[in-house]
Amino acid sequence: MTDWVRVCATSELLPGESQVAWDGDTAILVVNLDGDLYAVEDKCTHEDFELSAGAIDGGEVECTLHGARFDLRTGEALCAPAYAPLPRFPVKVEDGAVWTRDDR
Ligand code: FES
Repeated sequence: MTDWVRVCATSELLPGESQVAWDGDTAILVVNLDGDLYAVEDKCTHEDFELSAGAIDGGEVECTLHGARFDLRTGEALCAPAYAPLPRFPVKVEDGAVWTRDDR
């Protein structure tokens, strides 16, 4: 179990925005969807491509490499060629900042 990692100030993650934080070797994509914060691994489960390079729309992110889409709230893979869900991570707001961690 690792410590929490500071993502950014809350003012830097407004509704519709996203940030990437690193916890050790794990890239974590943190998104603000209509005021609710979610964190998933920033790594497509198809071929490990960084999802943060893709477009986020309607609570989904599309991988720019082969077009797989994921639900950012649940991590669920929504279409081929990805089938495995994204690992999800906890998020908290404390001291005016957003925090996450790889709790696997
Ligand atoms: S690496 Fe994301 S769809 Fe292939």
